[in-house]
Amino acid sequence: MKLADGNDIPPVGLGVAGIPVDLTTSATLAAINAGYRLIDTAVIYHNEAEVGAALAKTNVPRDDLFIATKVWPDRYGYDAVNASFRESMTRLGLDRLDLYMLHWPAPMLDKYVESWRALIDLQRDGWVTSIGVSNFFPAQLQRLADETGVMPVVNQIELHPYSQRLDEQAFHAKNNIATQCWSPLGRSRCLDDPVINAIATKHVRTPAQVVLRWHFEAGRIAIPRSKSPDRIQQNFDIFGFALDADDRSQIAALNKGLDGQLGPDPEIAR
Ligand SMILES: NC(=O)c1ccc[n+]([C@@H]2O[C@H](COP(=O)([O-])OP(=O)(O)OC[C@H]3O[C@@H](n4cnc5c(N)ncnc54)[C@H](OP(=O)(O)O)[C@@H]3O)[C@@H](O)[C@H]2O)c1
Repeated sequence: MKLADGNDIPPVGLGVAGIPVDLTTSATLAAINAGYRLIDTAVIYHNEAEVGAALAKTNVPRDDLFIATKVWPDRYGYDAVNASFRESMTRLGLDRLDLYMLHWPAPMLDKYVESWRALIDLQRDGWVTSIGVSNFFPAQLQRLADETGVMPVVNQIELHPYSQRLDEQAFHAKNNIATQCWSPLGRSRCLDDPVINAIATKHVRTPAQVVLRWHFEAGRIAIPRSKSPDRIQQNFDIFGFALDADDRSQIAALNKGLDGQLGPDPEIAR
């Protein structure tokens, strides 16, 4: 997919939060061997070094990979973000990052604009190819653009069939922001849903493939997590079938709005 800054981003990646640390290197390598090129980590996942170990082992050229990480709000502020960035790069063993994100807006700290300026300068200086945020609401995205002149090109938010974030998707579309979906499978809860299962049976696919195909067809980036090499492979095999209008309207009807959210409230998380 093309980002607003002209750079490309793969539509499917491996999210490594929640993969046991001792399995992170093997899961990352399994993903790269299955064809994934996007790996999503963060300081708070405590596994950047294990992702870095996989990057050091793979034969896939660095420029073919897309590595994303995030700074946690406890390091917000211009200088602290720069220091956290350097620490992440050391753990990852990289000298250039593909996507760097502010992990949460943490509005009670009121430091996300200053922190965003640090990301703008890291991009200007060539350390980071693309800059984005995670868990930002439209008003917070707009504030970044108004106060710095630079709109994030990615917003990574919780989005799955039970919480479809239609307002955020509309704002992103209007402002050319790519929607990247965390918990894209609803932390596997959506995979037990009878509607998803009936669609999967119809297409002779798995429920996870149906949900990931739904994200892909809508132009969203999904970063499913799995520690299992078989499921990692299965989650990437979504390009040989298509949902129809009836499938899409049935999945649309599963939306519970913000009531369907599984993660923390972005207004209070930090
Ligand atoms: N920005 C943020 O604030 C934020 C917050 C949360 C997560 N994230 C990112 O989003 C990524 C994914 O989110 P998530 O881990 O919360 O949830 P998820 O990807 O929706 O679901 C992961 C769960 O689904 C299972 N699973 C995966 N593929 C499956 C398949 N094909 N069949 C059956 N079960 C399957 C996994 O179990 P197995 O491992 O056993 O396969 C795991 O229990 C994270 O790793 C992280 O990178 C970001």
